[in-house]
Amino acid sequence: MSRPRRERRSVVAVEAIGPYALVRLDRGGIDPGRPGQFFMLEAPGRVLPRPMSLCLAPAGELGFLLDPVGPGTRALAALEPGDRIHVFGPLGNGFRLDVDRPLLVGGGIGVAPFPYLSEALEQPPAVLGFRSEHHAEAAVLVPNAEVVIDPVLVTEAIPAGRDVLACGPEPMLEAVRALCPDAQLAWEAPMACGYGACFGCVVEIDGELKRLCVEGPVLCFS
Ligand SMILES: Cc1cc2nc3c(=O)[nH]c(=O)nc-3n(C[C@H](O)[C@H](O)[C@H](O)COP(=O)(O)OP(=O)(O)OC[C@H]3O[C@@H](n4cnc5c(N)ncnc54)[C@H](O)[C@@H]3O)c2cc1C
Ligand code: FES
Repeated sequence: MSRPRRERRSVVAVEAIGPYALVRLDRGGIDPGRPGQFFMLEAPGRVLPRPMSLCLAPAGELGFLLDPVGPGTRALAALEPGDRIHVFGPLGNGFRLDVDRPLLVGGGIGVAPFPYLSEALEQPPAVLGFRSEHHAEAAVLVPNAEVVIDPVLVTEAIPAGRDVLACGPEPMLEAVRALCPDAQLAWEAPMACGYGACFGCVVEIDGELKRLCVEGPVLCFS
């Protein structure tokens, strides 16, 4: 397991991909970790950092795909080359890679960890669901992806007999779990510290309380 580090890193570029922003940072001494792990990114002008999955790890860089939904993510998407922010990670538990017949299943910004995961698993098939063609432009980052657009659901396109690794909104994860009880699921909760100290990320799953930053974000129930 890679040791998390906290460093101040420079922005290399920010690229628009559909409605999302791909923020590329120079990597410095930070290890990219395992796909599905996350990093706490300083959001300029905000007190708390924001958790983000690693999307891409080209040589010397860390890439994060952001959905600008609120003040923190909008501030991150507005960064410019040369700006510097604090980065802390890798954190949490990523996806297990010891799977025989992987299928990546994602919804919306849940596509974020898949480019890095796809590379680690040698480009397995993927099913990605988006709310519009504009959002679906992010599928360009994931090889071998079948795209479905609302109102078609990703669960309608999951073939039997696959080892599912999923990331997306909670209702999608619950539906995938009902269909594939062994699936590895990347959950989300608002996070303040990212390393188990604040209990801000506690979620109740099947009657059990879990600090998602240390027990997740990837959970498997089988
Ligand atoms: C492990 C992990 C990995 C993540 N990876 C990514 C990623 O790669 N790309 C990305 O765009 N986003 C990712 N997120 C979500 C992202 O952290 C939040 O959208 C962000 O913190 C929102 O901050 P904000 O200030 O922009 O908006 P806020 O004003 O804080 O939130 C906007 C809205 O989203 C809700 N919200 C905020 N955070 C979360 C959350 N974590 N889960 C569910 N609802 C939330 C708020 O209640 C509010 O309704 C991840 C979250 C986690 C926990
Ligand atoms: S984010 Fe602080 S305990 Fe999980």
